[in-house]
Amino acid sequence: RAPITISKLQAMREAGEKIAVLTAYDASFANLMDQSGIDVILVGDSLGNIIQGQTSTIPVTIEQMVYHVSCVAKGNQSAFLVADMPFGTYSTPEQAMENAASLMRAGAHMVKLEGGSWLAETVRFLVERSVPVCAHLGLLPQSVHTLGGFKVQGKSAEAAEILVKDAQTLEKAGAQLLVLEAIPSELGKKATASIKLPTIGIGAGPDCSGQVLVMHDMLGAFPGRSPKFVKNFLLGQESIEGAFKSYIQEVKTGKFPGPEHCFKS
Ligand code: KIV
Ligand code: NA
Repeated sequence: RAPITISKLQAMREAGEKIAVLTAYDASFANLMDQSGIDVILVGDSLGNIIQGQTSTIPVTIEQMVYHVSCVAKGNQSAFLVADMPFGTYSTPEQAMENAASLMRAGAHMVKLEGGSWLAETVRFLVERSVPVCAHLGLLPQSVHTLGGFKVQGKSAEAAEILVKDAQTLEKAGAQLLVLEAIPSELGKKATASIKLPTIGIGAGPDCSGQVLVMHDMLGAFPGRSPKFVKNFLLGQESIEGAFKSYIQEVKTGKFPGPEHCFKS
């Protein structure tokens, strides 16, 4: 298939075709996902939890991200490849550019940053220098210690209003994709309707332009309790490829996420 580009993702949003996204951290799974027809692969800093066994994403370094991005880039042929900028690597525009450049050199097509309007200057700085940016609002795992835990965000009217404003500000600054994590479905719908770029939800309801899950979560391969928005797609399948295809199909048809995977205001 032809390589997926940001213009293709934008066209999918406009056509109402849902965007299917999964995380990957190595060449073999990236290859299998790509062959299964995934639109976007995210090399998430969730690798701190998934690969390293940490209790948060905070210890993940730019060197570790670069290593995993280069592994995934080797296995991937045609999916759009997004890479997380880890904690403390985008505190100023200049620092962000230096670290984003190392992810782009490793094979990323876009970098992802967690945060609201305070990041607008950094987003513009990166986009002007040819680094496409995915923003990330709602539950920000790198902010776990300021948030006071992994909690659903945007529940109050004020918090919801701030999130919508942040989305508009980041779009205006040049962000071309937006991850929305752990927010009420109603807010996922409202934020998506307030901007033109594609939104990718994880626990953000069925009305985002696409969905993302952590690969190990959707294969039932992560030990311990999983969040409400996770569904095990390996159940009832005979192979990992079958699970990837079933996920992609359920995202495309709107079967996933169901009400049981969503949060209310
Ligand atoms: O790190 C990650 O895997 C993520 C997704 C869950 C959106 O940021
Ligand atoms: Na992340």
